[in-house]
Amino acid sequence: MATNIHFHPGSVTGTERTQLLDQKGATIWLTGLSASGKSTIACALEQHLLHLQKFAYRLDGDNVRFGLNKDLGFDEKSRNENIRRIGEVSKLFADAGCLTITAFISPYCADRNLARDLHKQASLPFIEVFVDAPLQVVEARDPKGLYKKARAGEIKDFTGISAPYEAPPSPEIHIKTDEVEVADAVRIIAEYLVQNGYISP
Ligand SMILES: Nc1ncnc2c1ncn2[C@@H]1O[C@H](COP(=O)(O)OP(=O)(O)OP(=O)(O)O)[C@@H](O)[C@H]1O
Ligand SMILES: [Mg+2]
Repeated sequence: MATNIHFHPGSVTGTERTQLLDQKGATIWLTGLSASGKSTIACALEQHLLHLQKFAYRLDGDNVRFGLNKDLGFDEKSRNENIRRIGEVSKLFADAGCLTITAFISPYCADRNLARDLHKQASLPFIEVFVDAPLQVVEARDPKGLYKKARAGEIKDFTGISAPYEAPPSPEIHIKTDEVEVADAVRIIAEYLVQNGYISP
């Protein structure tokens, strides 16, 4: 733990930044089983927001593990640290005024709540989106062949098979991807952003 460090505030307040950028930075935190549709929805949402001239950026599970989190595995401790770092990074992006879309399984409530608390302390919106589909549906999709490997015992600690997934008890948005099309999921999230005044219509 570092000592003798002092936070140096900027010359632009959060309110000013919001006015100048004409949008309020926020983290849109997608959580759900592998193959539930987090990355698919995150990509479509990012594209939609950019086409509306909004500043948006996606932090995606696998991508972050190629760089920032390349030193982490999938055991519970590593997953905790993975999400802690993403929580901090997404908070920085949101603070910069970005509509930050994170797409991580993030299976533990405690980890997601930690990310939420970080945002709350900084008065930044944290929008938890439960990207939900039943295990049998995601297992049938299996776009990366991971469930097959997990069932064969080739991947340990696989969420939904050999590691837990704790569903969010009260997410801001709940999307059932076995019932809702990708385009509708994007519309639902974008409408939430408008309704809460984070972006202009
Ligand atoms: N309504 C829907 N919303 C999102 N994805 C859908 C939907 N219907 C079908 N799919 C398909 O489900 C799959 C979801 O895969 P995707 O990579 O987005 O999942 P993920 O949640 O990011 O998984 P992982 O945690 O492994 O990265 C894709 O093949 C997508 O085309
Ligand atoms: Mg993904």
